[in-house]
Amino acid sequence: MKELIKISKNISQCTACALSNTRTQTVAGSGSQSAEIMFIGEAPGSKEDLHGLPFVGRSGDLLDELLVSINLDRQSVFITNLIKCRPPDNRDPLTKEIQACKEFLKKQLQHINPKVIVTLGRHAFSYFFPNANVQSSRGQIMPLGELSVFPVYHPAAALYNPKLKSVLQDDFKKLSDYLQNSITNKKISKTPSNEAKQLNLFE
Ligand code: URA
Repeated sequence: MKELIKISKNISQCTACALSNTRTQTVAGSGSQSAEIMFIGEAPGSKEDLHGLPFVGRSGDLLDELLVSINLDRQSVFITNLIKCRPPDNRDPLTKEIQACKEFLKKQLQHINPKVIVTLGRHAFSYFFPNANVQSSRGQIMPLGELSVFPVYHPAAALYNPKLKSVLQDDFKKLSDYLQNSITNKKISKTPSNEAKQLNLFE
């Protein structure tokens, strides 16, 4: 746990981009250091900025509901965002903010080494797959080097468009089936070559 705490402390002291001037506090992420699933959202919103925790607003309620539907909870997964500070007026994260923050996500990924990365919405997904879109890629495992990315819609999208809620529910069921069917529960070993591949993703 020490390493995750160290990463969070470094995040809390970050002044690499202008969002450090407007945030109330950073939102590093929460959950288990040995999580098999890591959820990556977009950026903290106003409630997250106040509480210092990811997904505590209405999208968070839906995320909790989806987790419970596949017998998971916040303690058994790790939840974070692409960027760790709230963009003013909840605007989209800028490329320069994502670039300034990516080292933290890289460190969290290396330390937790999840079996599956679930990207919530298009920003987190395009970070890993800049040329693909969530609509046609969602609900399936997309290998990327040694990583396995599973894109789904952002829970906030289902709050605006209730039809998307059942799509999200189906995708979470697929995620659960994938985890249960995966032949080996062994985590990706941290061999030097794997680490090198993962590092390349963040260059
Ligand atoms: N939306 C996100 O992408 N992340 C949060 O933490 C909350 C809402």
